[in-house]
Amino acid sequence: MEKNHSQSLMSKYFTKEVKNKLSGLKTSNGFTVLDAVRSGMENPDSNVGVYAGDEESYSFFAPLFDPIIEEYHGYKKGELHKTDFDSSHIEINNLDSEGKYIISSRIRVGRNLKDFAFSPAISKSERIVAENKIVAALKQFKDDLQGRYCQLSNMSEEIRLQMVKDHFLFKKGDRFLESAGANRDWPEGRGIFYSNDKKFLVWVNEEDQLRIISMQAGGNIGEVFKRLTRALDILQKSLIFAYSGHFGYFSSCPTNLGTAMRASVHIKLPKLGRDETNLKTICASLNLSLRGVHGEHSNSENGVFDISNKQRLGVSETEAVNTLVRGVKELIINKKIMN
Ligand code: ARG
Repeated sequence: MEKNHSQSLMSKYFTKEVKNKLSGLKTSNGFTVLDAVRSGMENPDSNVGVYAGDEESYSFFAPLFDPIIEEYHGYKKGELHKTDFDSSHIEINNLDSEGKYIISSRIRVGRNLKDFAFSPAISKSERIVAENKIVAALKQFKDDLQGRYCQLSNMSEEIRLQMVKDHFLFKKGDRFLESAGANRDWPEGRGIFYSNDKKFLVWVNEEDQLRIISMQAGGNIGEVFKRLTRALDILQKSLIFAYSGHFGYFSSCPTNLGTAMRASVHIKLPKLGRDETNLKTICASLNLSLRGVHGEHSNSENGVFDISNKQRLGVSETEAVNTLVRGVKELIINKKIMN
C-alpha cells in the first residue's frame, strides 16, 4: 500500500517548531537533525523515518526522538529499561512440538560499541576499528559457538548469494538505510561471523555495528534464547556496548532501542495468509509485526510469514520473547485463527 508523507512518525513530529529549535545543533560526530530526518524525507512511505548518528543524537534531538519513541514503544521520558535474560521466564519453549507450522525460530539483538558513531555517521576508519574490535571478541567463542568471520569484500558472489538465500547474510542496506547514510563505503568494514552449525551468527557493521543472531529450524524458541544469552555473556567480557538506563541498548533506528531484540518465527499460515491486510490487523492486535520471509519490506512466499515482537523498549528480553510466544499460541496452538 502506498503511503503518503503525512503517515510517517517523522512527518508527524518534525514540526516547524522542532525544526527551528534543533537546526543549529550538531553532535560530536557532526550529525544534525537534517541528517536524522533525511531517510523519512526521501522515502515518503517510511513508517518511522528517523535514524540516530550516535548516542548524543537521542539527547540533542530529544524533541524529535522522544515523541517518536513514545508512540512506537509506548515508552515515556523518565522510564527505565528492564533487563531479564532468565530463560525460565519464557512461557513456552517449543512453540510447535509437532513440527507442523513453524519452519524456523530466530532471535536477534542489535548492539553498538560505546563511544563509536552509529552507521549513519561513522567514518570509514572508525568503522574498520569497530570491525577489528568485534572480530577479536568473536575469537573467544568455543564449542558450538565457534566459527569463522568472513569479510563481505572477500566473499565470492556465489557464496554471498547462497548465504542471502539461506537467510544467513544481510544484503546491502535498503533505500531507507541508503538515505540515512548507512551504506557508505559498502562493503568495506562489513562481514559475517557464523558458527560451524550456522545456528549462531554475528553481522558486523550493518544497520548496527553488531546484530547478534541465534536461529534454528523448528519452533524451539527457548533453545534459541539460551544460545543467544550464552553468546552475549561471552561478548560482554571484551566489548562494552552503548547503553543507558533510559534507552537500554542504543541502536541507530529508534524502533530497536531497549532490548534491541526481535524474536521471530517463520510460520506457515496458508489460509490466513490469503488476506494479508487481515493478517496484519490480527498481528497488530497481538503486538506482533508481520514481514515476508526475505526480511523487512519483502513479500510472503507460499503462505510463509515472518512474525515478531513489535515492542523492544519498555519490555524486558523475556517479555519480548513472551509476546511472540503468546501471539504464536493464539495463531496455532489454540487454532482459533488457523481453522
Ligand atoms: N526507516 C524505515 C521506516 O521508517 C525502517 C524502520 C524500521 N526498520 C529498521 N530496519 N530499522 O520505515
